[in-house]
Amino acid sequence: MNKIRVSVVGASGYTGFELVKIFLKHPMVEITNLAVRSNVGTPFSEIYPSLKGRCDLTCVAIDVDRISATSDVILFCLPHKTGMKLIPQFIGKGKKIIDLSADYRFDDPLMYKSAYGIDHADAENLSAFVYGLPEINRKLIRKASNIASPGCFPTGIVLALMPALQAGLIRTDSIVVDSKTGISGGGKVPKPAFHFPECNENLTAYKVATHQHEPEIEQELSKMAKQSVDILFVPHLVPLNRGIYNTIYTELKMSVSPEKIREFYRKYYRSEPFVRVIDNDRIPQIKHVVYTNFCDIGMVLRGNRLILMSAIDNLIKGASGQAVQNMNVMMGFTETMGLD
Ligand SMILES: NC(=O)c1ccc[n+]([C@@H]2O[C@H](COP(=O)([O-])OP(=O)(O)OC[C@H]3O[C@@H](n4cnc5c(N)ncnc54)[C@H](OP(=O)(O)O)[C@@H]3O)[C@@H](O)[C@H]2O)c1
Repeated sequence: MNKIRVSVVGASGYTGFELVKIFLKHPMVEITNLAVRSNVGTPFSEIYPSLKGRCDLTCVAIDVDRISATSDVILFCLPHKTGMKLIPQFIGKGKKIIDLSADYRFDDPLMYKSAYGIDHADAENLSAFVYGLPEINRKLIRKASNIASPGCFPTGIVLALMPALQAGLIRTDSIVVDSKTGISGGGKVPKPAFHFPECNENLTAYKVATHQHEPEIEQELSKMAKQSVDILFVPHLVPLNRGIYNTIYTELKMSVSPEKIREFYRKYYRSEPFVRVIDNDRIPQIKHVVYTNFCDIGMVLRGNRLILMSAIDNLIKGASGQAVQNMNVMMGFTETMGLD
């Protein structure tokens, strides 16, 4: 089998760097274009010196014709609101497209507007994208041409809640999600809150119950519960480079033993290569998932309260690893290829 030709647009950012590192280990990938806005003509290893001798490809401009002609798969690592102006020019050229931004994650352009504050610039193509969480949409992803990779918060939250919601175990109107994210979640462009003296030795909530990922999470949870799910979502910024930790408070609709719930979760995720349900006496930790594509899930039952915990690496399972997992499914490769 020949290698596939893969291009990364927005390669100079954090998720682009992670993609390149994964592709260097991927036996079926040849990187053909690392396309950038501000570093055209610069070797990638000058932007990221840790890759000297491993990826010295020269970064190229974002040229639609050239990239389309020399790629089988194109991954977009652009800020939201940017991709939707560029990606339509790549659609319909017979290439597989994977967008890591939020621009194609919503079914309804009005939801996009309420989350991101502007009209969607390419609403007619929203239905051409599959929400790229392989654990829920693997069959659709296999046949898809275009993938909207999920947000980092939604990934760990949806994976933790999905079994309980699908089985009708928990109430849909009282879910409270408390999340902690590392600083790389904001990308490589420094903002005041992400400045070292501001975030080091500090912990703060932000965008309390107004974060743009809340409607995305509710969209996906409502689909799996087959009814409207209304969550309260409070993210926090913690002084870690990477990692997301979710603590999710739910109310059981019926009486179930902790052993039964854990066994149910284990069975549910038995065949999933990247979801691990943690043993009885353990709690997930960010330390155990960083630099991996794993999502670790744990649970504790107190009375009728089921407390779910999940941990992921925001840049791997929350972004670039998940994008490669999607690509593997789309291309018919072993799902774990490049991600072991
Ligand atoms: N960071 C995470 O944990 C994470 C997780 C899941 C999803 N995502 C999503 O993935 C996308 C990329 O995130 P990131 O963390 O990699 O961001 P980033 O580090 O800020 O990188 C963004 C990239 O986009 C390029 N870019 C910015 N504005 C552009 C424009 N107008 N035209 C062309 N290129 C432009 C930048 O190029 P220059 O260097 O030339 O400015 C850079 O290469 C975002 O949509 C983000 O929401 C991120």
